[in-house]
Amino acid sequence: MSKISLKNLTKKYGSVTAVDGINLDVVKGEFLTLLGPSGCGKTTTLRMIAGLEEPTSGELYSNDKVLFSKKRVCTFPLRCGISDLCFKVTPSGLI
Ligand SMILES: Nc1ncnc2c1ncn2[C@@H]1O[C@H](COP(=O)(O)OP(=O)(O)OP(=O)(O)O)[C@@H](O)[C@H]1O
Ligand SMILES: [Mg+2]
Repeated sequence: MSKISLKNLTKKYGSVTAVDGINLDVVKGEFLTLLGPSGCGKTTTLRMIAGLEEPTSGELYSNDKVLFSKKRVCTFPLRCGISDLCFKVTPSGLI
């Protein structure tokens, strides 16, 4: 089953914690709304899922492929803490 998984995903901007360890699974066909007060991290969460923002820590998966992790090697890149073997992905991007 297709899904997107966020595991303890965190984003910090300096001393500001924009997203604090969110855990979430979204499966294919599921309709999800992020609801919360201004500044709680909705946009930052979506930007991390879209690959527009690099998480500070945690893990992000699409169909069990690692999109982001500082602990595990990515099978397909967005960004990864460890260089990808096929695409030469580094935390700063493609080389
Ligand atoms: N590029 C950035 N640099 C520094 N701080 C940021 C940046 N983007 C977001 N933040 C901070 O991270 C926190 C979460 O912001 P975010 O935009 O994700 O909230 P939001 O839930 O989408 O808010 P809103 O409902 O107003 O759209 C806020 O404290 C915000 O000021
Ligand atoms: Mg927003």
